[in-house]
Amino acid sequence: MLTRSSRIPGFYKRSFDERLRIVAEWAGLTKEEVELLKNTGNLDRKIADAMIENVIGGMTYPFAIATNFRINGRDYLVPMVIEESSVVAAASNAAKMLREGDGIIAKAGPQYMIGQIHLVKVDAPRYKAMKIIEKKEELLEHANQQDPVLVKLGGGARDIEVRVVDTRMGPVIIVHLIVDVLDAMGANAVNTMAEALAPLLEKITGGEARLRIISNNAVYRIVRAWARTHPRNVGGEDVAKKIVEASILAEADPYRAVTHNKGIMNGIIAVALATAQDHRAIEAGAHAYASRNGVYKPLSTWEIDEEGYLTGTLEIPLQIGIVGGAVKVHPIARIALKILGVKTAKELAEVMAAVGLAQNLAALRALVTEGIQKGHMKLHAKNLAIMAGATGELIDIIAEHMVKEGRIRFDYAKELVEKYKNKHERKI
Ligand code: MEV
Repeated sequence: MLTRSSRIPGFYKRSFDERLRIVAEWAGLTKEEVELLKNTGNLDRKIADAMIENVIGGMTYPFAIATNFRINGRDYLVPMVIEESSVVAAASNAAKMLREGDGIIAKAGPQYMIGQIHLVKVDAPRYKAMKIIEKKEELLEHANQQDPVLVKLGGGARDIEVRVVDTRMGPVIIVHLIVDVLDAMGANAVNTMAEALAPLLEKITGGEARLRIISNNAVYRIVRAWARTHPRNVGGEDVAKKIVEASILAEADPYRAVTHNKGIMNGIIAVALATAQDHRAIEAGAHAYASRNGVYKPLSTWEIDEEGYLTGTLEIPLQIGIVGGAVKVHPIARIALKILGVKTAKELAEVMAAVGLAQNLAALRALVTEGIQKGHMKLHAKNLAIMAGATGELIDIIAEHMVKEGRIRFDYAKELVEKYKNKHERKI
């Protein structure tokens, strides 16, 4: 048999249709599969083709709205894009539990990102580190010349930090450029500045600049969210106490902390996807922050206060933006921002942190009561019913039937579809 090669010179230069034809041939895609894949949905094909390389189609995720959110005294409808069932329902549910008064309070700090320049082959690195500090104003000015628009809007390079780190290849000078990126995620602005500073730093130190890039460890871009609710809102004192126990278990056990934080990220990433954020940056930064003291810890904590109220707090770095990048290019991301009605990156970060906290409450509450599977299974049953060919009201009928009997399986869904359809046809 001839072996096929994935080496396709100039693949990127071919048209969308040509690339699709090559892949369809390679994989033996049917006509229907090709038709389905080439549909870029609500993203114009030209935009899709310009966004990334080698595009041959689109893939649609559901765009949903979490209701009930009250954050900083204001109501929000929160767009969420996610493949996992139950997340949106859980967020809406928990948001209802945290609605009283001003609802969830969330405060974002400054929108500072870090740009890194690593300098190697430096003699007397500690002395050279001081020389960099000596030239700080000049360096900041040069950095700011790279982005006059950001500076005009009130942002720009603010500070410079220098460390000398001993590595396997000897001492390395690591320069951090601290930039107020305002409403942008900041990668473009910061990377441009870091690249522009590198030659100046080489001159000052006599070393060689290696990496010149943003750090996704966004420790200067922290958002905090907190909320308080009467135990009756979560199902009573016993449930509230067990939620606190779940929080303590996450503090004591990194294996649990990772899952605890995954639940928080369910909410945050769903909003990030709806608004076309760099969700990998958000995830990387969040998990680095969770382990900042050397042990992986939960990003949120639940406690009971002196009045017996359940209180929750969350602290997380969020590197997000509402200007530039995919946020501006993707029309649905713009619609998501319009639905949210956020005016600044700070406000979006506050909403996202609030959603993360609510999502976490919903997960913990489910875990310490009926367990997580019940809610999951209801939606899973619906998915199975659709996959088995159910349409219209039959979807709910079959899903409910399977849930009631505790037999949520594809083969059973198919059996039921046949049965119900026959019944229906006989009636006609
Ligand atoms: C599932 O997507 C998220 C949970 O596992 C989170 C948690 O365990 O806290 C339910």
